[in-house]
Amino acid sequence: MKILAIETSCDETAAAVVEDGRKILSSVIASQVEEHKIYGGVVPEIASRRHAEAISGVVREALNQAGLSLKGLDAIAVTHAPGLIGALLVGVNFAKGLALSSGLPLIPVHHLRSHIAANYLEYPELKPPFLCLVVSGGHSHIVYVSDYTSFKVLGKTRDDAAGECYDKAARAMGMPYPGGVYLDKMAREGNPEAYRLPHPKVEGSKYDFSFSGLKTAVINLLHNAKQKGETINTADLCASFQKTVVDILVQNTLSAAKECNAEKIVLAGGVSANSALRARMAQACSESGLQLYYPPLSLCGDNAAMVGSQAYYEFFAGNTAGLDLNARATMPIESA
Ligand code: KG4
Ligand code: ZN
Repeated sequence: MKILAIETSCDETAAAVVEDGRKILSSVIASQVEEHKIYGGVVPEIASRRHAEAISGVVREALNQAGLSLKGLDAIAVTHAPGLIGALLVGVNFAKGLALSSGLPLIPVHHLRSHIAANYLEYPELKPPFLCLVVSGGHSHIVYVSDYTSFKVLGKTRDDAAGECYDKAARAMGMPYPGGVYLDKMAREGNPEAYRLPHPKVEGSKYDFSFSGLKTAVINLLHNAKQKGETINTADLCASFQKTVVDILVQNTLSAAKECNAEKIVLAGGVSANSALRARMAQACSESGLQLYYPPLSLCGDNAAMVGSQAYYEFFAGNTAGLDLNARATMPIESA
Protein backbone atom coordinates (compact mmCIF):
# COMPACT_ATOMS: atom_id res chain seq x y z
CA MET A 1 0.00 0.00 0.00
CA LYS A 2 1.50 3.34 -1.11
CA ILE A 3 0.62 6.40 0.95
CA LEU A 4 1.38 10.01 0.06
CA ALA A 5 1.93 11.84 3.37
CA ILE A 6 1.98 15.57 4.10
CA GLU A 7 3.40 17.35 7.16
CA THR A 8 3.06 21.09 7.88
CA SER A 9 2.64 21.24 11.68
CA CYS A 10 5.46 23.72 12.36
CA ASP A 11 8.20 25.14 10.13
CA GLU A 12 8.92 22.29 7.74
CA THR A 13 6.82 21.71 4.63
CA ALA A 14 7.25 18.00 3.96
CA ALA A 15 5.83 15.30 1.70
CA ALA A 16 6.75 11.64 1.31
CA VAL A 17 5.59 8.40 -0.25
CA VAL A 18 5.80 5.38 2.06
CA GLU A 19 5.04 1.76 1.17
CA ASP A 20 3.35 -0.56 3.68
CA GLY A 21 4.31 1.67 6.59
CA ARG A 22 7.96 0.68 6.50
CA LYS A 23 9.62 1.62 3.21
CA ILE A 24 10.40 5.22 2.19
CA LEU A 25 9.92 5.65 -1.58
CA SER A 26 10.56 9.40 -1.36
CA SER A 27 10.87 12.10 1.29
CA VAL A 28 11.10 15.83 0.64
CA ILE A 29 11.50 18.54 3.29
CA ALA A 30 11.49 22.29 2.66
CA SER A 31 12.66 23.96 5.86
CA GLN A 32 11.81 27.55 6.74
CA VAL A 33 14.27 27.63 9.64
CA GLU A 34 16.61 30.24 8.12
CA GLU A 35 13.76 32.74 7.93
CA HIS A 36 12.54 32.11 11.50
CA LYS A 37 16.11 32.37 12.82
CA ILE A 38 15.95 36.14 12.31
CA TYR A 39 13.16 36.30 14.92
CA GLY A 40 14.67 33.79 17.35
CA GLY A 41 11.70 31.41 17.01
CA VAL A 42 8.90 30.31 14.69
CA VAL A 43 6.56 33.13 13.66
CA PRO A 44 3.23 31.32 13.05
CA GLU A 45 1.91 33.73 10.43
CA ILE A 46 5.09 33.48 8.37
CA ALA A 47 5.07 29.69 8.73
CA SER A 48 1.53 29.41 7.28
CA ARG A 49 2.38 31.63 4.31
CA ARG A 50 5.57 29.72 3.51
CA HIS A 51 3.69 26.40 3.68
CA ALA A 52 1.11 27.76 1.23
CA GLU A 53 3.89 28.75 -1.17
CA ALA A 54 5.91 25.53 -0.86
CA ILE A 55 3.34 22.77 -0.60
CA SER A 56 2.51 22.14 -4.29
CA GLY A 57 6.18 21.94 -5.25
CA VAL A 58 7.10 19.72 -2.31
CA VAL A 59 4.26 17.26 -3.03
CA ARG A 60 5.08 17.20 -6.74
CA GLU A 61 8.75 16.50 -5.91
CA ALA A 62 7.81 13.66 -3.54
CA LEU A 63 5.68 12.05 -6.28
CA ASN A 64 8.44 12.56 -8.89
CA GLN A 65 11.11 11.04 -6.67
CA ALA A 66 8.87 8.02 -6.03
CA GLY A 67 8.19 7.76 -9.78
CA LEU A 68 4.45 7.90 -9.15
CA SER A 69 1.41 9.95 -10.07
CA LEU A 70 -1.74 10.21 -7.95
CA LYS A 71 -3.03 7.14 -9.81
CA GLY A 72 -0.27 4.98 -8.33
CA LEU A 73 -1.25 5.83 -4.74
CA ASP A 74 -3.61 4.09 -2.32
CA ALA A 75 -4.24 6.86 0.23
CA ILE A 76 -3.44 10.44 1.23
CA ALA A 77 -2.27 11.09 4.81
CA VAL A 78 -1.79 14.36 6.63
CA THR A 79 -0.76 15.65 10.04
CA HIS A 80 -3.94 17.26 11.41
CA ALA A 81 -2.91 17.84 15.08
CA PRO A 82 -1.28 19.10 17.23
CA GLY A 83 0.71 22.07 15.95
CA LEU A 84 0.43 25.65 14.74
CA ILE A 85 -3.15 25.90 13.56
CA GLY A 86 -2.53 28.06 10.49
CA ALA A 87 0.36 25.82 9.45
CA LEU A 88 -1.64 22.60 9.94
CA LEU A 89 -4.57 23.99 7.93
CA VAL A 90 -2.39 24.40 4.85
CA GLY A 91 -1.47 20.70 4.84
CA VAL A 92 -4.96 19.53 5.79
CA ASN A 93 -6.63 21.52 3.03
CA PHE A 94 -4.09 20.46 0.44
CA ALA A 95 -4.57 16.81 1.42
CA LYS A 96 -8.35 17.20 1.25
CA GLY A 97 -8.06 18.65 -2.26
CA LEU A 98 -5.94 15.68 -3.34
CA ALA A 99 -8.33 13.19 -1.73
CA LEU A 100 -11.31 14.87 -3.40
CA SER A 101 -9.73 14.93 -6.86
CA SER A 102 -8.32 11.40 -6.68
CA GLY A 103 -11.11 9.69 -4.74
CA LEU A 104 -8.46 8.17 -2.43
CA PRO A 105 -9.03 7.67 1.32
CA LEU A 106 -7.86 10.48 3.62
CA ILE A 107 -5.92 9.50 6.77
CA PRO A 108 -5.43 12.06 9.57
CA VAL A 109 -2.27 11.49 11.63
CA HIS A 110 -1.40 12.80 15.10
CA HIS A 111 2.02 14.49 15.07
CA LEU A 112 3.43 12.67 18.11
CA ARG A 113 2.18 9.30 16.87
CA SER A 114 4.11 9.96 13.66
CA HIS A 115 7.31 10.87 15.57
CA ILE A 116 7.08 7.46 17.27
CA ALA A 117 6.51 5.77 13.89
CA ALA A 118 9.78 7.22 12.55
CA ASN A 119 11.32 4.21 14.33
CA TYR A 120 9.31 1.71 12.23
CA LEU A 121 11.07 3.05 9.13
CA GLU A 122 14.48 2.27 10.61
CA TYR A 123 13.80 -1.01 12.43
CA PRO A 124 11.76 -3.52 10.39
CA GLU A 125 11.53 -5.79 13.45
CA LEU A 126 10.17 -3.13 15.82
CA LYS A 127 6.59 -3.72 16.94
CA PRO A 128 4.56 -2.56 19.94
CA PRO A 129 4.33 -3.02 22.86
CA PHE A 130 7.11 -0.66 23.98
CA LEU A 131 7.67 2.39 26.15
CA CYS A 132 8.42 5.59 24.27
CA LEU A 133 10.00 8.86 25.36
CA VAL A 134 8.71 11.49 22.93
CA VAL A 135 10.74 14.69 23.27
CA SER A 136 10.27 17.52 20.80
CA GLY A 137 10.06 21.30 20.67
CA GLY A 138 6.45 21.24 21.83
CA HIS A 139 6.09 18.01 23.84
CA SER A 140 7.77 15.78 26.41
CA HIS A 141 5.80 12.59 27.00
CA ILE A 142 6.48 9.13 28.36
CA VAL A 143 4.00 6.99 26.45
CA TYR A 144 3.19 3.30 26.69
CA VAL A 145 2.50 2.12 23.15
CA SER A 146 0.48 -1.07 23.56
CA ASP A 147 -0.39 -1.28 19.86
CA TYR A 148 0.23 0.80 16.72
CA THR A 149 -2.80 2.96 17.47
CA SER A 150 -3.16 2.50 21.27
CA PHE A 151 -1.30 4.88 23.55
CA LYS A 152 -1.26 5.63 27.26
CA VAL A 153 0.54 8.72 28.57
CA LEU A 154 2.36 7.82 31.80
CA GLY A 155 4.14 11.15 32.24
CA LYS A 156 4.40 14.51 30.59
CA THR A 157 5.79 17.97 31.10
CA ARG A 158 3.88 20.30 33.39
CA ASP A 159 5.33 23.38 31.67
CA ASP A 160 8.04 23.70 28.99
CA ALA A 161 8.88 20.84 26.64
CA ALA A 162 12.48 19.54 26.71
CA GLY A 163 13.23 21.00 23.26
CA GLU A 164 11.70 24.33 24.23
CA CYS A 165 13.91 24.40 27.34
CA TYR A 166 16.97 23.63 25.19
CA ASP A 167 16.05 26.38 22.73
CA LYS A 168 15.44 28.98 25.45
CA ALA A 169 18.63 28.16 27.35
CA ALA A 170 20.59 28.23 24.08
CA ARG A 171 19.05 31.57 23.15
CA ALA A 172 20.05 33.04 26.54
CA MET A 173 23.60 31.92 25.74
CA GLY A 174 23.48 33.71 22.39
CA MET A 175 23.02 30.70 20.11
CA PRO A 176 20.81 30.79 16.98
CA TYR A 177 17.33 29.24 16.77
CA PRO A 178 16.68 26.34 17.16
CA GLY A 179 19.45 26.13 19.72
CA GLY A 180 19.17 22.48 20.82
CA VAL A 181 21.67 21.19 18.33
CA TYR A 182 24.18 24.01 19.05
CA LEU A 183 23.89 23.52 22.80
CA ASP A 184 24.38 19.76 22.34
CA LYS A 185 27.58 20.36 20.33
CA MET A 186 28.98 22.89 22.80
CA ALA A 187 28.16 20.60 25.76
CA ARG A 188 30.58 17.98 24.44
CA GLU A 189 33.46 20.39 25.14
CA GLY A 190 32.42 21.23 28.73
CA ASN A 191 32.47 19.88 32.27
CA PRO A 192 28.97 18.63 33.28
CA GLU A 193 29.79 19.05 36.99
CA ALA A 194 30.83 22.72 36.70
CA TYR A 195 27.46 24.30 37.53
CA ARG A 196 24.80 23.03 39.92
CA LEU A 197 21.36 23.37 38.36
CA PRO A 198 18.03 22.42 39.95
CA HIS A 199 16.45 19.01 39.45
CA PRO A 200 12.84 20.11 39.61
CA LYS A 201 10.56 17.86 41.67
CA VAL A 202 7.03 17.37 40.41
CA GLU A 203 4.27 16.68 42.93
CA GLY A 204 1.59 14.16 42.01
CA SER A 205 2.45 12.06 38.99
CA LYS A 206 5.66 10.07 39.37
CA TYR A 207 6.78 10.43 35.77
CA ASP A 208 5.85 14.04 34.96
CA PHE A 209 8.55 16.56 34.04
CA SER A 210 9.02 20.24 34.77
CA PHE A 211 11.64 22.14 32.79
CA SER A 212 10.72 25.79 33.24
CA GLY A 213 12.64 26.10 36.57
CA LEU A 214 15.76 24.80 34.88
CA LYS A 215 15.40 27.30 32.06
CA THR A 216 14.95 30.13 34.59
CA ALA A 217 17.98 28.94 36.57
CA VAL A 218 20.17 29.19 33.44
CA ILE A 219 18.81 32.65 32.60
CA ASN A 220 19.33 33.87 36.18
CA LEU A 221 22.84 32.46 36.34
CA LEU A 222 23.79 34.31 33.13
CA HIS A 223 22.08 37.50 34.31
CA ASN A 224 23.77 37.48 37.74
CA ALA A 225 27.19 36.84 36.21
CA LYS A 226 26.68 39.73 33.79
CA GLN A 227 25.70 42.08 36.63
CA LYS A 228 28.74 41.08 38.66
CA GLY A 229 31.02 41.28 35.62
CA GLU A 230 31.91 37.58 35.98
CA THR A 231 32.49 35.36 32.96
CA ILE A 232 30.57 32.16 32.45
CA ASN A 233 32.22 29.21 30.76
CA THR A 234 29.59 28.53 28.08
CA ALA A 235 30.77 25.00 27.32
CA ASP A 236 30.62 24.11 31.04
CA LEU A 237 27.15 25.62 31.39
CA CYS A 238 25.95 23.74 28.30
CA ALA A 239 27.39 20.48 29.65
CA SER A 240 25.82 21.02 33.10
CA PHE A 241 22.45 21.91 31.56
CA GLN A 242 22.56 18.93 29.21
CA LYS A 243 23.47 16.55 32.03
CA THR A 244 20.55 17.81 34.14
CA VAL A 245 17.98 17.46 31.34
CA VAL A 246 19.24 14.05 30.30
CA ASP A 247 19.34 12.82 33.95
CA ILE A 248 15.68 13.76 34.34
CA LEU A 249 14.59 12.20 31.04
CA VAL A 250 16.52 8.96 31.61
CA GLN A 251 15.49 8.54 35.28
CA ASN A 252 11.78 9.04 34.62
CA THR A 253 11.77 6.79 31.54
CA LEU A 254 13.63 3.99 33.29
CA SER A 255 11.34 4.08 36.35
CA ALA A 256 8.26 4.03 34.12
CA ALA A 257 9.75 1.11 32.16
CA LYS A 258 10.20 -0.84 35.39
CA GLU A 259 6.62 -0.24 36.47
CA CYS A 260 5.08 -1.30 33.17
CA ASN A 261 7.52 -4.20 32.65
CA ALA A 262 8.60 -2.80 29.30
CA GLU A 263 11.29 -4.71 27.43
CA LYS A 264 11.84 -2.10 24.74
CA ILE A 265 12.51 1.64 25.03
CA VAL A 266 11.97 3.88 22.00
CA LEU A 267 13.07 7.51 21.62
CA ALA A 268 11.24 9.90 19.33
CA GLY A 269 11.00 13.60 18.40
CA GLY A 270 13.57 16.29 17.64
CA VAL A 271 15.39 15.97 20.98
CA SER A 272 15.99 12.25 20.32
CA ALA A 273 18.82 13.57 18.09
CA ASN A 274 20.63 14.65 21.28
CA SER A 275 24.00 12.92 21.63
CA ALA A 276 23.99 12.74 25.44
CA LEU A 277 20.41 11.46 25.61
CA ARG A 278 21.24 8.66 23.17
CA ALA A 279 24.44 7.73 24.98
CA ARG A 280 23.03 7.85 28.52
CA MET A 281 19.84 6.06 27.59
CA ALA A 282 21.88 3.36 25.81
CA GLN A 283 23.99 2.87 28.94
CA ALA A 284 20.94 2.78 31.25
CA CYS A 285 19.10 0.34 28.97
CA SER A 286 22.04 -2.00 28.69
CA GLU A 287 22.43 -1.99 32.52
CA SER A 288 18.73 -2.83 32.88
CA GLY A 289 18.59 -5.41 30.08
CA LEU A 290 16.30 -3.26 27.92
CA GLN A 291 16.44 -2.96 24.15
CA LEU A 292 16.82 0.64 22.92
CA TYR A 293 15.67 2.10 19.60
CA TYR A 294 16.02 5.63 18.29
CA PRO A 295 15.49 7.09 14.81
CA PRO A 296 18.35 8.01 12.48
CA LEU A 297 19.17 11.75 12.66
CA SER A 298 17.37 12.27 9.32
CA LEU A 299 14.07 11.13 10.87
CA CYS A 300 14.31 12.77 14.33
CA GLY A 301 13.03 16.17 13.23
CA ASP A 302 9.78 16.88 11.42
CA ASN A 303 9.36 14.96 8.16
CA ALA A 304 6.51 13.36 6.22
CA ALA A 305 7.94 9.84 5.94
CA MET A 306 7.04 9.23 9.60
CA VAL A 307 3.49 10.42 8.84
CA GLY A 308 3.25 7.92 5.98
CA SER A 309 4.39 5.16 8.32
CA GLN A 310 1.87 5.85 11.08
CA ALA A 311 -0.88 6.42 8.48
CA TYR A 312 -0.58 2.81 7.32
CA TYR A 313 -1.47 1.54 10.80
CA GLU A 314 -4.19 4.17 11.27
CA PHE A 315 -5.77 3.04 7.98
CA PHE A 316 -6.00 -0.59 9.07
CA ALA A 317 -7.40 0.53 12.43
CA GLY A 318 -10.21 2.23 10.48
CA ASN A 319 -9.03 5.75 11.29
CA THR A 320 -9.87 7.58 8.07
CA ALA A 321 -11.56 10.98 7.75
CA GLY A 322 -14.17 12.62 5.54
CA LEU A 323 -13.67 15.84 3.61
CA ASP A 324 -14.87 17.78 6.65
CA LEU A 325 -11.55 17.01 8.41
CA ASN A 326 -10.32 19.95 10.47
CA ALA A 327 -6.94 20.77 11.99
CA ARG A 328 -6.52 21.02 15.77
CA ALA A 329 -3.83 22.98 17.60
CA THR A 330 -3.97 20.61 20.56
CA MET A 331 -5.04 16.98 20.83
CA PRO A 332 -4.07 14.23 23.27
CA ILE A 333 -2.13 11.37 21.68
CA GLU A 334 -4.60 8.82 23.07
CA SER A 335 -7.66 10.22 21.35
CA ALA A 336 -6.40 11.13 17.88
O1 KG4 B 1 10.23 17.21 16.71
P1 KG4 B 1 10.76 18.52 16.29
O2 KG4 B 1 11.54 18.61 15.00
O3 KG4 B 1 9.62 19.58 16.20
C1 KG4 B 1 8.52 19.59 17.05
O4 KG4 B 1 7.60 18.80 16.81
O5 KG4 B 1 8.60 20.36 18.02
O6 KG4 B 1 11.68 19.04 17.50
C2 KG4 B 1 12.39 20.22 17.43
C3 KG4 B 1 13.15 20.38 18.74
C4 KG4 B 1 13.77 21.77 18.87
O7 KG4 B 1 13.47 22.27 20.15
C5 KG4 B 1 15.25 21.49 18.71
O8 KG4 B 1 16.10 22.41 19.37
C6 KG4 B 1 15.36 20.12 19.33
O9 KG4 B 1 14.23 19.44 18.82
N1 KG4 B 1 16.61 19.45 18.95
C7 KG4 B 1 17.58 19.12 19.84
C8 KG4 B 1 18.64 18.54 19.11
N2 KG4 B 1 18.28 18.53 17.78
C9 KG4 B 1 17.03 19.09 17.71
N3 KG4 B 1 17.63 19.27 21.18
C10 KG4 B 1 18.74 18.84 21.81
N4 KG4 B 1 19.79 18.28 21.16
C11 KG4 B 1 19.78 18.09 19.84
N5 KG4 B 1 20.83 17.52 19.22
ZN1 ZN C 1 7.75 17.39 15.63
